[in-house]
Amino acid sequence: MKEQVDLIVDEAQEVVTVGGGRGSLRGDAMDELQIVREGAVAVRDGLIVAVDASSAIHATYEGEREVSARGGIVLPGFCDAHTHPVFAATREGEFDLRARGGSYQDITRSGGGIFSSVRAFRSASRESLEKQLRERLDRFVMCGTTSVEAKSGYGLDLESELLALELLADCGANHPIDIDATCLAAHQVPPEFAEHREAYVALVAEKILPEVASRKLARSADVFCDEGAFTVDEARTVLESARSLGMALRVHADELAPVGAAELAAEMGAQTADHLVRISDAGIEAMLGAETTPVLLPGTCFSLRLKDVAPARRMIEAGLPVALATDFNPGTSYIPSMVEIIALACGLLGMTVAESIVAATRNAAETLGLPGVRGRIEVGAVADLVLLDVPNHLFLGYQMGWHAVTAVVKSGALVWQRHDNRPTLL
Ligand code: NIG
Ligand code: FE
Repeated sequence: MKEQVDLIVDEAQEVVTVGGGRGSLRGDAMDELQIVREGAVAVRDGLIVAVDASSAIHATYEGEREVSARGGIVLPGFCDAHTHPVFAATREGEFDLRARGGSYQDITRSGGGIFSSVRAFRSASRESLEKQLRERLDRFVMCGTTSVEAKSGYGLDLESELLALELLADCGANHPIDIDATCLAAHQVPPEFAEHREAYVALVAEKILPEVASRKLARSADVFCDEGAFTVDEARTVLESARSLGMALRVHADELAPVGAAELAAEMGAQTADHLVRISDAGIEAMLGAETTPVLLPGTCFSLRLKDVAPARRMIEAGLPVALATDFNPGTSYIPSMVEIIALACGLLGMTVAESIVAATRNAAETLGLPGVRGRIEVGAVADLVLLDVPNHLFLGYQMGWHAVTAVVKSGALVWQRHDNRPTLL
């Protein structure tokens, strides 16, 4: 008698398990993928019960449902560790302005950028925001992302920040994707506080974050600490408040200028410091000592056409557990797909495909406060899987511009499948 399971995913040229050991992977271990060739995965009650050669899985298990990877590869569902999906309007015009020579900071100074998204958010209806958010979450899943960190940050007043986080909670509750919510009320100083910045910092620290924490609307708090955003001292005030409320900390750090935000993130014991394009050597040292994870966002460097990129190689060689994310947002990265981010990490940051896969799955999962083992295909882990029609994992760096995701399994359920698994022209 074979053992009954809910689902078997089989006929994978490679099952890239990203397994072995505990916690995130660092250094050389990031470049050593565990792969089961001609593999299959058996799933029951939302968890992985076996990973082995297809023949061995079929000898032991009977699947109520079977999905073939058709000679492609199977990876853990992607974990996107940094997104801003709650917004009311896209900003493609700014992309075009930058192509004509304007900089992100120039656009912000003239009232665009985040300010433009804040105006749009405040005048949008709850229904419109919710509909757009749902569509974006659907897109994440279709791109193979099964767990996502998602921030508020385009409301910048108590009511609007709470609304953004409520929408994340509502949409997350009946959507296959799992959301780890972050309050980013400290994204910018809103225009009505331009002449008294300290009053906005106090509002965030003394009112918005306490309300968010007491209603358990976000596990983490984030602050944009950079040139043209919050200073290190302002950011420290926000982070101290969040820490005293028991929130985890994340920091948009040193993207545009080396202001010492990575050092601040480390000093405060932040879970992540993100962007880090202009991080100093001292910042890398400080993060190592503090167990702060660098979340790198190559889609943003690409969309902003930054001359510098985060020093991923130095970070990996130093032993930091590098993670990757899309930074999906209307201004600086309208990129929902972690598959494209992996290719950009290889092309722009000089990471290997193996390192990029680890950073987009297991290491990213470790920065999310979501229950269970995620970002790995191993016995007992949450059964989040992505199937891709590439012959081996190296294609994820080598190939761009093809929707390689053919199916997505979330907590053991098939939640998306490409209409025609072998697309052909009509
Ligand atoms: O991560 N750097 C700050 N925040 C976002 C951009 C937000 C926006 O421009 O709307 C980011 O890139
Ligand atoms: Fe961001």
